[in-house]
Amino acid sequence: MKKTIVVTGGAGFIGSNFVYHMLKKYPDYRIVCVDCLTYAGNLSTLKKALENPNFRFSKTNICDRKAIKELFEEEKPDIVVNFAAESHVDRSIETPELFLQTNVLGTETLMDVCRELNIPRYHQVSTDEVYGDLPLDRPDLFFTEKTPLHTSSPYSASKAGADLLVMAYVRTYKFPATISRCSNNYGPYHFPEKLIPLMIINALNDKPLPVYGDGKNVRDWLYVEDHCKAIDLIIHEGEIGEVYNVGGHNEMANIDIVKLILKELGKSEDLITFVEDRKGHDRRYAIDPTKIHTQLGWLPETKFENGIVKTIKWYLDHKDWWEEIISGEYQNYYEKMYGDK
Ligand code: NAD
Ligand code: DAU
Repeated sequence: MKKTIVVTGGAGFIGSNFVYHMLKKYPDYRIVCVDCLTYAGNLSTLKKALENPNFRFSKTNICDRKAIKELFEEEKPDIVVNFAAESHVDRSIETPELFLQTNVLGTETLMDVCRELNIPRYHQVSTDEVYGDLPLDRPDLFFTEKTPLHTSSPYSASKAGADLLVMAYVRTYKFPATISRCSNNYGPYHFPEKLIPLMIINALNDKPLPVYGDGKNVRDWLYVEDHCKAIDLIIHEGEIGEVYNVGGHNEMANIDIVKLILKELGKSEDLITFVEDRKGHDRRYAIDPTKIHTQLGWLPETKFENGIVKTIKWYLDHKDWWEEIISGEYQNYYEKMYGDK
C-alpha cells in the first residue's frame, strides 16, 4: 500500500542512506525529507533523490512547530521517522545547549504535532550510548533493552532525555511510537568528523591520525544499510511502545580500525598520533540484538571486513563530496578540536 514517510535529518549520514533505501525498496512510497541543513546536513548528498518525483525536500527545523505543523498538514504522513539530531559527542562537550534544543525539544515538537494531527506512527532513532559504557574486562556483558539508561556525555544525555519523553508519550497519550537503539554505523556519506571517515581522509592526505587516549576504546560497528533495514522492519512490523536494540556483534578497538584503514590504503602506521583523551570517554559499547532478531527476523548482512573495504572505496570514489566539506567551515572546527591536542 502506498505510504507517505517523513524522514527528519535525511540530509545527514544515516537519514540519507535511509532515504535511498526507502526510495529503492518502495517505488510507490512518497518520501519527505525534513532537514534544516546544519553543518552536518548536505543537500549534495540527496542529489539523486531530488531527481525522483516521489521525493520532496523541505528545509525545516524540527523545533519550528508552526512550519512542522503546516508541512505535516499538507503531506499527511503515515509514518514519521526522526533521525534529526546533533550527533557528535565532541561537539556536545563544547555546546550542550544545542543538543538539548534539537534532540529533546525537537523530539517533543515532532511528537506534539503528530499527536495533534493524529499521525498513525512515529519512530525515534536512538543510540546505544544511552546505556553508558561497559568495562573492557567483561566481554560477557552486553546492552539489552532492559539495561538501565546511564549516560556519559551531553549528547547521550540528550538522546536518553528524548527516549524517556517518547516512552512517557506512549504511556500517557497512547502515542504510537517505537524506539531503536543502534550501535556505531559506518558507510557512505559519513561526516568526516567521525572516526572512520576522519581516519580515511587524513590517511589519504598524509595527515596525522589523532587517536584519543590509548586507542583501546571499543565500539560495535554496523554497516549503515543494515541499520536502515532494521528501521524499515520496525516501522512496518514493530510493536508500538517497544524498544529495539540494533547491532551486529562486531566489537573493535579504535586502534585496530585505524591500523586496518592504513593497511587498506597502503599508508604507514607512523601517521598514528595518540592525542588527549575525550572527556568522559565511554570505554566499550556492545549491543545484544536478540530481540530484533527473534521478534522481527532482522540480522546484519554486511560483514565488517567487506563493509570497511566498500566504505574506503566509496571515499576514494567520492572525493568531490568530502573535499567540499573539508574545505569550508570544517577547517575551523578541525583547528579548534585538534589544534592544541
Ligand atoms: P548526522 O549528524 O550525520 O545527521 C544529522 C542530520 O540532522 C543532519 O542532516 C542535520 O542537518 C539534521 N538536523 C540537525 N538538527 C536539526 C534540526 N533542528 N532540524 C532539522 N534537521 C536537523 O547524524 P547521523 O550520524 O546520521 O545520526 C542520525 C541519527 O541516528 C541521530 O539521531 C543519531 O543520534 C542516531 N544514531 C547515530 C549513530 C551513528 O553511528 N552515527 C548510531 C546510532 C544512532
Ligand atoms: O554508538 C553510537 C554513536 O556512535 C552515535 O550515537 C553517535 O551519534 C556517533 O557519533 C557515534 O559516537 P562515537 O563517539 O562512538 O563516534 P566517534 O566516531 O566520534 O568516535 C568513535 C571512537 O573513536 C570513540 O571511542 C572516540 C574515538 N575517536 C574519535 C575521533 C573523532 C578518536 O580516537 N579520534 C578521533 O579523532
